[in-house]
Amino acid sequence: MLIRKPPQIRASEITPKHVYLNRRKFLAVPALAAFPGLAPAGVRLADVRKSPFSTDEKITPYQHATHYNNFYEFGTGKEQPAELAKNLRISPWAISVEGHVARPRVFDFDDIMKLAPLEERIYRLRCVEGWSMVIPWIGYPLNALIRQVEPTSKAKYVAFESLYDSKQMPAARWAGIPFPYVEGLRMDEAMHPLTLLCVGMYGETLPNQSGAPVRLVVPWKYGFKSIKSIVKIKFTEKQPPTTWSRANPQEYGFYSNVNPQVDHPRWSQAKERRLGEFFKRNTLMFNGYGDQVAQLYAGMDLRKYY
Ligand code: MTE
Repeated sequence: MLIRKPPQIRASEITPKHVYLNRRKFLAVPALAAFPGLAPAGVRLADVRKSPFSTDEKITPYQHATHYNNFYEFGTGKEQPAELAKNLRISPWAISVEGHVARPRVFDFDDIMKLAPLEERIYRLRCVEGWSMVIPWIGYPLNALIRQVEPTSKAKYVAFESLYDSKQMPAARWAGIPFPYVEGLRMDEAMHPLTLLCVGMYGETLPNQSGAPVRLVVPWKYGFKSIKSIVKIKFTEKQPPTTWSRANPQEYGFYSNVNPQVDHPRWSQAKERRLGEFFKRNTLMFNGYGDQVAQLYAGMDLRKYY
C-alpha cells in the first residue's frame, strides 16, 4: 500500500526540529526514509553556507515567492502553480547531461545534492513582466556540475530542458507556448560563478511550484531564463532555441539580460515593483550585477542582442 503524506503539510513540520537540524542534508532525515518515493519538497536543508554573493536587501515574504509564480506547465495564472503543481512527482528524478562532453552522465537527485557544498545565495530576480523579488535560494554554481562532465572544445552553448508530462500538467495545453520548456546560455554565462544550480529556498528543498527538485537561477537575466524542474542539460555547438523566443521572437531574445534602456515592445523596462511593496523602483542594468557580468558582453550591441 502506498502511504501518502497530505500535500499541504511540509516535511519540516512533521520532522522534529532536533532531527532535521542535526542531520547532514535531507537524505539522512528519517521521516523521508520511512516514506520511500515521496517527493522531497519542503524538507529542511542542513549544512548550508552563507555566500558572499548575497544581497543584504529585504527578503521577499515566503508566501509571495511561492504563490505568485510563472510555471506555465501548471497554468498561466500566478496562483495556479502553487495549487496545480502540488502533486508533481519529483522523486525519483534524473537529469541527463549530454552532448559535446567527454563524460556524459545521468545524475539522480542524490548525485546532485552531493556534487558541491550547498550555499544560500540571496539574489534579486527581475521578471520581464515588471515585478521583482529577493529570494534566499540554496544551491551551488552550475560550473561544479559542468566540470564533472568535461565539455569538449565544441561545447559553445548549454541547452536546458524542463520536465513535460501532459498527464501531470493538463493545464499546459492552454498555456499558448510550446513544451517542453527549453532555455539556453552561452558557455561563459553557464560557467559564471553567479549562475546557480538551485535545489532549495528559504532553508528548505524547493516547493514544486518554484521548480522542484532542481532549477536554474541566473540573477542578471530576466526571470524566464531561470528554467524550472530540469531533466536535460545538453552541450551544443550552435545557439539552442529558447521557449520564449520560439513563441515570440520579436519580443524575447536569447540573451535577455535585464536592461532598463531597452524596452519590451509593449511596455517599459525602466522600473519594477518588488513583490509586497507599493512604490516602484528603478530597474538596474544587469539587475545590479553589472560589476560581475558586464565584461561577458564587452563589444556587443545589447539592443541587437536583447
Ligand atoms: N520554467 C518552466 N519550466 N516553465 C515556466 O513557465 N517560467 C519562467 C521561469 N522558469 C517558467 C520557468 C519565468 S517567466 C519566470 S519569471 C520564473 O521561472 C519565475 O520563477 P518563480 O516562479 O520561482 O518566481
